[in-house]
Amino acid sequence: MYVCLCQGITDRQIREAICSGCSSMCELRSRLKVCSDCGKCAGAVEALLAECGGGPGAAHGRPAEGAGPCSVRP
Ligand code: FES
Repeated sequence: MYVCLCQGITDRQIREAICSGCSSMCELRSRLKVCSDCGKCAGAVEALLAECGGGPGAAHGRPAEGAGPCSVRP
């Protein structure tokens, strides 16, 4: 499912980025460019971060460090 329509980024791409180490909105924005245009995807991206826990330990239930909204908005 597309999460960021402006950049054509899917929830799968975001989950993969989180599992490979992205643990914050800033990192996801830097890697995938989510929230870099209109910003309407921010809530859905934050929900995915919370759901996955963020970072490489996400699959093992480790809490994310630094997960949270980016203070830099488009
Ligand atoms: S929907 Fe993600 S920046 Fe517009």
